[in-house]
Amino acid sequence: MCQQITVTTTTAMDQPERGESQAGPGRVQVRRICCMGAGYVGGPTMAVIADRCPDIQVTVVDLNTARIAAWNDADLARLPVYEPGLDAVVGRCRGRNLHFSTEVEAAIASADMVFLSVNTPTKTRGIGAGQASDLRWVEACARQVAQAATGHTIVVEKSTLPVRTAETIQTILAAQRPASDGQPQRTFSVLSNPEFLAEGTAIADLEAPDRVLIGGEDPQAIEALAGVYGQWVAPERILRTNLWSSELSKLTANAFLAQRISSINAIAALCEATQADVREVARAIGADSRIGSKFLTAGPGFGGSCFQKDILNLVYLCRHFALGEVADYWESVVTLNTWQQHRVSRLVVQQLFGTVTGKRIAVLGFAFKANTNDTRESPAIRICGDLLEDGAQLAIHDPKVDPQQIAADLRQPQAPASPAPVSAHAGGGERTWIACPTPEQACHGADAAVVLTEWDQFARLDWAGLAERMRHPAWVFDTRGVVDGAAVQAAGLRLWRLGR
Ligand code: UDX
Ligand code: UDX
Repeated sequence: MCQQITVTTTTAMDQPERGESQAGPGRVQVRRICCMGAGYVGGPTMAVIADRCPDIQVTVVDLNTARIAAWNDADLARLPVYEPGLDAVVGRCRGRNLHFSTEVEAAIASADMVFLSVNTPTKTRGIGAGQASDLRWVEACARQVAQAATGHTIVVEKSTLPVRTAETIQTILAAQRPASDGQPQRTFSVLSNPEFLAEGTAIADLEAPDRVLIGGEDPQAIEALAGVYGQWVAPERILRTNLWSSELSKLTANAFLAQRISSINAIAALCEATQADVREVARAIGADSRIGSKFLTAGPGFGGSCFQKDILNLVYLCRHFALGEVADYWESVVTLNTWQQHRVSRLVVQQLFGTVTGKRIAVLGFAFKANTNDTRESPAIRICGDLLEDGAQLAIHDPKVDPQQIAADLRQPQAPASPAPVSAHAGGGERTWIACPTPEQACHGADAAVVLTEWDQFARLDWAGLAERMRHPAWVFDTRGVVDGAAVQAAGLRLWRLGR
């Protein structure tokens, strides 16, 4: 199963610049990499590979021309992905051995190794809607590889995929341009190499990974990829498994991490009811080395492109294999997360005397976590949506998120910017929002400030100054445990902190 797939091509050309990665015995050395998908995963991952492997030419391709143009922007502050340290890495390698291009077929044709790093969102319609992954882009990419590849090509699944997707990719690769007499052979090996980087710390995670996981059946292909990572990752951290274990490990890792967050968020609600402090509980349980201290920070619920999608994928898989109880178990992690997000917005409304209609609320932070401009599945989307639904006027400040992205997430354009508070508490009940470049502007005339992302700067806010701008009695809702509670209270503001 899953050994090298051989296809004979009618148009294959010799690629003199390619490495020795032709089928056959001997060590396979990768010289040219193509990555399909210049997103949050593909961009930073390829930048670090190029940085650490100066002998490998890396080309990242994407269908989105605007995105590729942004990756090629001379101003490194305008890269399409914000990650601490990414600009420096791209600055070092771009034009040397790191290239961003829309010439997809040419990049595939000259590559020894093609990474698939395109998005795999949850299906919104048809069979498995709401749970299964939508593989249409992965499938389209596999077809493009099948068309354009030459010689031997190692295809690496980087996108998070349902278990046994490699089989689909193999089937597509094997079906294209079938053998015809006398033509040079094209061959493919498929590997799974899930990405474990977390956004906001992507560069550090890539440069010093806990582990690199390579799943596959073709030893030469596995060693070729291990050779790439081996240029900077210690050998004992490079794990080799079969394809399906690798694919399942990624889903399982994300499910376990998300489960910890739902667990601590559940306990946070109990802490609020019983006057325990969730931080103290987290510290006490985290000191047990069997539990460990990481990923025990209570918050407004997890966001990000992976956790919910991957758990729903796991749930779908379990149902498919008639493991109903297992599916229900994992699904409850997502159910609790959704509940937690709504719980925050309900609490804000309750504290503000049962209504936020016509009230201005400053929202501090919209990204799903600090140090990223990514808002996918951000708890802010649901929480802001609830508050708008209740008639609030939101003044949203995030240091990195583009207001156009907020508009897309809230499915509502922002109100024309006005220096004064939106309709100044006229009580009109118009659900509007504006983006504010500073926390001060967001808090101007606000009845409450709700902290939704743990940006460092929110720990250092001048609450005395902000309080002067707010309408009293005014509240601060800290869902991330980052604000200086003493300063908030000294400024005469009422403070609500999640889990306390
Ligand atoms: C990644 C993973 O690939 C995904 O499986 C994981 O679960 C989340 O993280 P990410 O890099 O975050 O995805 O996605 P995104 O930032 O949306 O980037 C994907 C890119 O692929 C986009 O720029 C899109 O334009 C591009 N793309 C998509 C193609 O170039 N070709 C396609 O056929 C489809
Ligand atoms: C996650 C995995 O960590 C990573 O290994 C995988 O490759 C992709 O998915 P990411 O979503 O980028 O990474 O960020 P992560 O740091 O895991 O945070 C996810 C969400 O959980 C964020 O909304 C974050 O705020 C939240 N979180 C995290 C908590 O609420 N509490 C915690 O203790 C940790």
